[in-house]
Amino acid sequence: MANQADLIVGLQWGDEGKGKIVDHMAQTHDYVCRFAGGHNAGHTIVIGDQTYALHLIPSGVLNPEAKNVVGNGVVLSPVDFIKEMEQFDDLEGRLFISDKAHLLLPHHALIDQARERMKGDKAIGTTGKGIGPAYGDKVARVGHRVGELLDPAKLTAKLMAYFEMYQGIFDVMGVELPSEAELLAELAGYKNVLEPYITDTTLLVWDALDQGKKILLEGAQGTMLDIDHGTYPYVTSSTTVSAGAASGLGIAPRDIGRVTGIAKAYCTRVGNGPFPSEDHGEAGQRLRDNGHEYGTTTGRPRRCGWFDAVAARHAVRINGVDQIALMKLDVLDGFDEVKVCVAYEVDGKRIDYVPYDLEEATPVYESFPGWDKTEGVQTFDDLPETARSYITALEAMVGAKMGIISTSPEREDTIVRK
Ligand code: GDP
Ligand code: IMO
Ligand code: MG
Repeated sequence: MANQADLIVGLQWGDEGKGKIVDHMAQTHDYVCRFAGGHNAGHTIVIGDQTYALHLIPSGVLNPEAKNVVGNGVVLSPVDFIKEMEQFDDLEGRLFISDKAHLLLPHHALIDQARERMKGDKAIGTTGKGIGPAYGDKVARVGHRVGELLDPAKLTAKLMAYFEMYQGIFDVMGVELPSEAELLAELAGYKNVLEPYITDTTLLVWDALDQGKKILLEGAQGTMLDIDHGTYPYVTSSTTVSAGAASGLGIAPRDIGRVTGIAKAYCTRVGNGPFPSEDHGEAGQRLRDNGHEYGTTTGRPRRCGWFDAVAARHAVRINGVDQIALMKLDVLDGFDEVKVCVAYEVDGKRIDYVPYDLEEATPVYESFPGWDKTEGVQTFDDLPETARSYITALEAMVGAKMGIISTSPEREDTIVRK
């Protein structure tokens, strides 16, 4: 069997705890590769009394032995990337950026924010970072790639022509643009810092695969935010599901081996759009408080609710999940009963799949007895019996084994089942 990469993907609406599991797995991998998204992502890793918030740099960076790749499927904001790099002083030789990744520049963020304002109460609730406009330009074939940073004068000329083409629209949107001199200085500054890291990462990853290196593919966001399979238009602008890892890095689908799907023991969502199992009452507030459910990237309170087994089953199938890492089980500690959305009702009819318009779906719940404490538990057998029954019931509903269970933000509070 040829060497295959392991893959991590979010099964819900993002913020499932991917960062913690990527960091955990990165200890035994040679390469960690991001394949989609931009600095809309916020991956938190807690090691002792240090907390790291990573947005674009792969979460393997905390293993000093691991090489980290930012793939072509990512949209990269040089200014934000450089800021993030400043947390580390040993990145040369272990951080690689695809020359084919698309550039996300300050005007993209201004367009994103202007569009959101113009949408009023139909706003998506984006992170305002410019993700949609950057991917939009890529697909419209008017974007620019990281490789172009290597010739700042030429890129400046191309961007000035692009700005001129859209000048009228930018004026209406109130998007302020840099002068030619400002732009050239900005791009030259990016080149200065980033040049040593820019390379053909496709060749790099192929070589690593051929040499039998252990490779981990790190997804961002979650399945329900996928541009095709999520709750469109309340989604992000990239392919967040496992299929995106192939095109986002330039590898073949058959180069992907074991898929670990990350899901919280409940659900959260930041931004607008349907969320059938959202709890607007006391339970939702308690989940937010216990789980510290405030965005890593924007600080916004996350909407909270119960585990959605229908959406999770959909995600297991789309991503080809081999095992699930069930995160934040401890956040459910102390609830008398724990609810699970086991089906939806649409027009009075019970369905067990994710419908075209999730807005129309109301949840059908099943209740499970709660438990006192799972926080810090490190073996499956030490979990309270009711927590084990909850996990077993979820496995049956979603059709995948929960091979990893996480009981706190700390590295060591991670149960790996045989
Ligand atoms: P990501 O975007 O999927 O990487 O997830 P985030 O980092 O945005 O959000 C997950 C949050 O939950 C982070 O603050 C983690 O430190 C924290 N976390 C991860 N696993 C656990 C867990 O098992 N229990 C608790 N209480 N917190 C956790
Ligand atoms: P991680 O990788 C949670 C959400 C935004 C918004 C929608 C579109 O940390 O799981 P965008 O700025 O991408 O155009 O916003 O997607 N969103 C996320 N929600 N976690 C994320 O990333 C997210 N990245 C984007 O809140 O609803
Ligand atoms: Mg996050």
